[in-house]
Amino acid sequence: MTEINIAVVPVAGLGTRLLPATKSQPKEMLPVGRKPVVQYVVEELTRVGMKRLLFVTGPGKASIENHFDLNGELIQNLRETGKEELLSELAFERAPVQYFYTRQRQLLGLGHAVLCAEPYVGDQPFVVALGDSIIGINASSDIVRRMTEAFGEKNADVIVAFEQVPMSEIHNYGVAKPRTDGDVFQIDDVIEKPSAVEAPSNLAIAARYVFAPKIFDAIKSTKPGKGGEIQLTDAIRLIIRNGGKVYGMKLVGAERRFDIGNFDSYFRAFVEFALADEKHGAALREFVKQLIH
Ligand code: UTP
Repeated sequence: MTEINIAVVPVAGLGTRLLPATKSQPKEMLPVGRKPVVQYVVEELTRVGMKRLLFVTGPGKASIENHFDLNGELIQNLRETGKEELLSELAFERAPVQYFYTRQRQLLGLGHAVLCAEPYVGDQPFVVALGDSIIGINASSDIVRRMTEAFGEKNADVIVAFEQVPMSEIHNYGVAKPRTDGDVFQIDDVIEKPSAVEAPSNLAIAARYVFAPKIFDAIKSTKPGKGGEIQLTDAIRLIIRNGGKVYGMKLVGAERRFDIGNFDSYFRAFVEFALADEKHGAALREFVKQLIH
């Protein structure tokens, strides 16, 4: 079984739903508690054994590249000014992983962003992790490991992570039409943003995928949909229609998807992470209690 150790992290989107915060900084660099969103994503991926991370970037995203660089000057400054205790905050710079970057030169949607990874990924299976979504509080999830294992066991073409969401929110998501039951289930279809009445389940796509390289041909055969964007879900549907094996995997237990794509869920994520902070959480809980009563 080939080990899957490449993850593609699309971060090229404009983040218009978070304007003005995202006018001159990427949404993937917004802090949630102490860290920028994309650092949680990278920590999740490196913890489950990803060795090569390819960011699909675009204009205005240079701060993401800078964030993962080794910053010798900053380290020296901390040492020289007696702030050695802060060096541990930069330990993530030494994660055993290699970073690669490519540009999505036209913003033609998530499907197109994934296609930009083809020259790098070549003919091997790979993970896609959206750079604006954290899985589990403090990125504690190992769903990507479970997905890559299931990918081999099932001889799958695609595995998609799904979260059960309230039906009142289902219209915001790509939704599974499952063929089978259980935490890992085969999928008959994925419906993009259905109404609660049309939705075939309460299972919403949750920002993590594993793909066989055939996804690239499927994306190339996918016509632009809404807003001229090439939808990744349309390419997945094409694979299903051509008889491919597409599975869903549910987030389980305490695993939840924190979507930093809109203010409502960004605020909630920030508050939840800050309240859970080891150092500042207790005082913040007191403050919030006073504020509310
Ligand atoms: P979204 O659709 O939420 O991102 O994509 P967006 O286009 O930035 O959002 P709005 O609607 O303008 O607010 C989810 C992830 O896919 C990336 C985004 O950067 C984000 O991490 N993405 C999206 C791309 O890399 N390229 C695209 O063309 C679209």
